[in-house]
Amino acid sequence: MKADLIIHNAGQLVTCASNGKPKRLSQMQDVGIVENGALAIAEGKIIGIGKTKEIHKQFKSENAIDAKGKVVCPAFVEPHTHIVFAGNRLDEFELKIKGADYLEILENGGGILSTVRQTREASLKDLVKQSLKRLDKLLELGVTTCEVKTGYGLDTETELKMLAAIFALDKIHTIDLIPTFLPAHAVPPEYKGREDDYVDLICDEMLPSARRLFDLDKIDFDKIESEIAEEIKLQEAKGEMAGIGTYPLQSVWLAARRDNPFFIDVFCEKNAFNLEQSKRVLEAGKRWGMKIKAHVDEFTNLGAARMAIELGATSIDHLDATSDEEVALLAKSNTIGIVTPTVNFNFGSAHFADARRMIDAGCAIAVSTDYNPGSAPCPSPALAMAIACRYQKLLPSEAFNAATINAAFGVGSGGKTGSLEIGKRADVLILDTKDYREPAYEFGGNFVEKAFKNGKIAIIQTD
Ligand code: NIG
Ligand code: FE
Repeated sequence: MKADLIIHNAGQLVTCASNGKPKRLSQMQDVGIVENGALAIAEGKIIGIGKTKEIHKQFKSENAIDAKGKVVCPAFVEPHTHIVFAGNRLDEFELKIKGADYLEILENGGGILSTVRQTREASLKDLVKQSLKRLDKLLELGVTTCEVKTGYGLDTETELKMLAAIFALDKIHTIDLIPTFLPAHAVPPEYKGREDDYVDLICDEMLPSARRLFDLDKIDFDKIESEIAEEIKLQEAKGEMAGIGTYPLQSVWLAARRDNPFFIDVFCEKNAFNLEQSKRVLEAGKRWGMKIKAHVDEFTNLGAARMAIELGATSIDHLDATSDEEVALLAKSNTIGIVTPTVNFNFGSAHFADARRMIDAGCAIAVSTDYNPGSAPCPSPALAMAIACRYQKLLPSEAFNAATINAAFGVGSGGKTGSLEIGKRADVLILDTKDYREPAYEFGGNFVEKAFKNGKIAIIQTD
């Protein structure tokens, strides 16, 4: 069989294969290594995986890349970021070093609200330009799929400007972006003391506008029109009457929405949104066909983990103050628990989410950088893995699965990326090491030698 590309002679071909499900318990320690392995790729997808000899027997290609005994693995999936913003928070960094508290800074109009002021002032073009640099860094560090949140606008105009920036970046940049709408990230100063009114604005105005913008950007109207015409023809041939605006339109539209995940998120926290307000936002998003994510238990347990799991959240994120009972509930659910150890590290805190206990209880855990200007100015999944190993007691194998396959499930894309399995996107890294454990062992560096996105080379570092 013909392949567009073969990547061969991988000392360790690390597949992270999971058979269509996120990894749990002892599966987390299995990264699915094929020694002296190879991959065959066609039309951007993986069509063969096995020993180098077998792949050469089965596939022929004019293009072959020799991994020279190094590690070949899935590209990292970054499941929780806030990389679209203007400016920086360098002053706050110094305040925190001197002892200031994150939530107090927010209460006094700084923190997230300082980035809101800078982002409101920036033009769309400037926002895109500043964010592109962050995506370049992520790609160099091996990320080819990345979730990105709004949440530094907190008014309809700026939240939609952020969403438009995310859509533009997705088109310009190699990294696949998965958008998340987060107008409930902080209470805007104009609504201080009137939080419920702000939640009304989110539900009545911001969410429907965001949905419309998403549909206009992501849905291929020409394709839908021809599919509808096909469906009408079919029904007419069967002697049934159909009409635009009835069943065919809706089914094609819903399928298009399903193929492009769009999330609603909320920061359920003291000085941000309480449990009831958070639930209202998530339920409204769900009614608009959005999938659910939630910032829960970052500092304070307000009961949001249970609430979000019961609403069928794709992920609940942070989990620093989550109770044993909620961990047991998470373990039984399909929701991914995303931990962000970079945040605790950045705060110089000795307290971390107890990801060890969560994995041992059977939760599907993913690791994220939470790349953002305040709580975690960190673009490196390898550094997040390194911190998770040291402070959350994950083994390098567990951290690897957490940053790839489980992270992909954490953004509703576990069927498309996050592991090297037949039919998945050829999102692949060649690491300049012979042992997959090294990126978590050494910290502060970068082992990515080559990155492929949909089978095309995206990054080449010097050999
Ligand atoms: O995930 N906690 C809320 N949101 C971000 C921080 C954003 C910021 O500080 O700008 C987080 O930690
Ligand atoms: Fe966040």
